[in-house]
Amino acid sequence: MGTLEGTRVLLGVSGGIAAYKAADLVRRLRDAGAEVRVVMTAGARQFVTPATFQALSGHPVRSDLWDPAAEAAMGHIELARWAEIVLVAPASANTLARLAHGLADDLLSTLCLATSAPLMVAPAMNQQMWAHPATQANVATLGARGVVLLGPDSGGQACGEFGAGRLVEPPAIVERLAALRAPGVLAGRVVVVSAGPTFEDVDPVRFIGNRSSGRMGFAIAAAAAAAGAEVRLVAGPVHLPTPARVARRDVRSAREMHAAVLAAVAGADAYVGAAAVADFRPAVAAPDKIKKTDGAPAPTLLLERTEDILAAVAALPARPFCVGFAAETGDVEAYARGKLQRKRVDLVCANRVGAPGEGFDADDNALLVLGPDGFRLDLGRAPKAVLATRLVELIAQRLPAPRAAGARA
Ligand code: CTP
Repeated sequence: MGTLEGTRVLLGVSGGIAAYKAADLVRRLRDAGAEVRVVMTAGARQFVTPATFQALSGHPVRSDLWDPAAEAAMGHIELARWAEIVLVAPASANTLARLAHGLADDLLSTLCLATSAPLMVAPAMNQQMWAHPATQANVATLGARGVVLLGPDSGGQACGEFGAGRLVEPPAIVERLAALRAPGVLAGRVVVVSAGPTFEDVDPVRFIGNRSSGRMGFAIAAAAAAAGAEVRLVAGPVHLPTPARVARRDVRSAREMHAAVLAAVAGADAYVGAAAVADFRPAVAAPDKIKKTDGAPAPTLLLERTEDILAAVAALPARPFCVGFAAETGDVEAYARGKLQRKRVDLVCANRVGAPGEGFDADDNALLVLGPDGFRLDLGRAPKAVLATRLVELIAQRLPAPRAAGARA
């Protein structure tokens, strides 16, 4: 059985010399077991004839939004619904721009708007066109919407230039498509992630906060969603875009985060507390801005403890699998083991903060994962996205079997 057995792939071919490679792609998709329907843009027809794709896919090829005969056979909305995945390969600079801006001025762009299937694009173009800020902005827009970008590869180009802009080779496209279709390790699971700092108000203009950027938590939310989980992200005040297929709730204080997390964990399989929650807040937030008065002493802030969110989740009768973080400046492992026992969680990810380039507000992190019964796994130093994927795999391995629907909190 092929890796794409029975998968309904709508292949959009746009204009460019790489369109000839799309013919090989159709053959390989079918070899992998996929059913393929091909839609060509007007530009693509300048490079390859529809007859080629018709012969290889075994179905008529469509290009025209206004073709009454074709619409009578399978209307464009039916075609959009038929697709389980829409793959645009090659995607020209013009097609990327039209997709990014939501145009619907030909059959392919209309289908891309009308479908609810995942969209994957494999760009191919001259390297200057690829590097142009307009193209890069379009690609960033598509990526933020959850469109899967594949390539381009670098190398010699048909135009005689050298650089990034070559279509990824058809076997690699088929492989990525199969990986996308494979159920993730967290398919059917619900994961709640808290991320970022909390801000505790002193008065209407001042607050106590910390240097957490939220990047580790957002990377975990993205990795869990990519692994097939339904992800609920509770985010403190951060400046980060929401990862694809993640439901986000923004909060400000520890009190708000506590309420949002407790609501979100109902029925959840796992809770990852990656937020740097303030441990203390001003006992009373002044209703008006605190003014300095000449000669008067500086005010003293009276602090009180905030809610311990992780401990509260871990104490629930039907608690999810709980993962905590321990940010330490020294004696990382000893302190983290203490937290594991005190908060009665299933895993603690310990990381050193304060070292240059690692921890808070940095691209990299270094995580040491500890569990009960002496479990210890050093994930080493790596970009946060890489560590997040490894952590998600580890959670998936250690997660208890799903509870019966009725048994959930
Ligand atoms: N945490 C929480 N609620 C708090 C404080 C912390 O849920 N009010 C969670 C964090 O999200 C993290 C873990 O607890 O997953 C560890 O946080 P940390 O502040 O490092 O630990 P503390 O238990 O506060 O210990 P200490 O102050 O001794 O470092």
